[in-house]
Amino acid sequence: MTSTSQSTVLVTGAGRGLGLALARSLLSSGWRVVVDARRAEHLAAALPGAVVVPGDVTEPAHRDALASAVSGLAPTDEQRLDLLVNNASDLGPSPLPRLADVPLAAVRRVYETNVLAPLALTQKFLPLLRASHGTVLNISSDAAVEAYAGWGAYGSSKAALDQLTAVLAAEEPGLAVYSVDPGDMRTEMHQAAFPGEDISDRPAPEAVVPALLRLIASRTAPSGRVRAADLAGTSV
Ligand SMILES: NC(=O)c1ccc[n+]([C@@H]2O[C@H](COP(=O)([O-])OP(=O)(O)OC[C@H]3O[C@@H](n4cnc5c(N)ncnc54)[C@H](OP(=O)(O)O)[C@@H]3O)[C@@H](O)[C@H]2O)c1
Repeated sequence: MTSTSQSTVLVTGAGRGLGLALARSLLSSGWRVVVDARRAEHLAAALPGAVVVPGDVTEPAHRDALASAVSGLAPTDEQRLDLLVNNASDLGPSPLPRLADVPLAAVRRVYETNVLAPLALTQKFLPLLRASHGTVLNISSDAAVEAYAGWGAYGSSKAALDQLTAVLAAEEPGLAVYSVDPGDMRTEMHQAAFPGEDISDRPAPEAVVPALLRLIASRTAPSGRVRAADLAGTSV
C-alpha cells in the first residue's frame, strides 16, 4: 500500500514498444503503475516497482485480475484510477492481407483486442476514473483515417476505437478522453507491418512519450482524436 496522493495508471501492452516506454516514464515520475502483456516475465526487472499482471486483454478473467490489481493499491475508500491507457493492440496477419483474403477469424481477433477489450476495460474502470476525474488514452493510428491497402482489419478497428473515444467523451464530460495517433515507431508491430524492410529510420517509441505526457498533464486539451506529431513541442 502506497501514498494515496500518488496518481495511478493502468497501461495495457507494456511488454515492449510504446507501452513499455510510457510505463517506464510514468514510473520514474512517481506514478503507481499497473501493466500487462501476455509475455511479461521480463517486466518485474524492466519496470521495478510496477504491478505486473500477465495476461491477455481479450480475456474477461484477466481484466478482472487487472481490476483487482488496481483496487489492491489502496483502501476501498481511497481507490483511484487517474489514467487508463489502452495500448495493447493486434495488427492481424503479417504480411498484411487485402480484404479479399483476410481470414475472418483474424479480423475477429483484431476487433476483440483493439475495440472490445478497450471498451470492456473502460466499462470496468469507469467508476474509479469518474472518481479521479481521470483520463482515458486510447492508442490509435493513422490507419484509422487513411485507406492503406492491406490495413483494412487493423485500420477499421482503430477507426472504431476513435469513434468509441468520441462518444465516451460526449457521455463522460468529467473525463478527458483521447485517441492518439502516435505516428510510426520502430517496434515489433511496425516490423510485422513491413516484414523484411529496414525500419531503422523510424523513431523509437520513447520519442513519442513526451507528447503523451504533456497531453495527460494538460487536462485542458479538448477530448477527441489527436496526433502525437501535432503535440510535439506544444504546451497543449
Ligand atoms: N509502431 C507503430 O508504428 C505504430 C503506429 C501507429 C499506432 N501504433 C499503435 O501504438 C500502440 C503500441 O504499438 P507498438 O508498436 O508499441 O506495439 P508492440 O511493440 O507490438 O507492443 C505491443 C505490446 O502489447 C502487448 N499485447 C499485444 N496484444 C496483447 C493482448 N491481447 N493482451 C495484452 N497485451 C498485449 C504485447 O505483448 P505480448 O505480445 O507479450 O502480449 C506488447 O507488449 C498500439 O496500439 C499500436 O496499434 C503503433
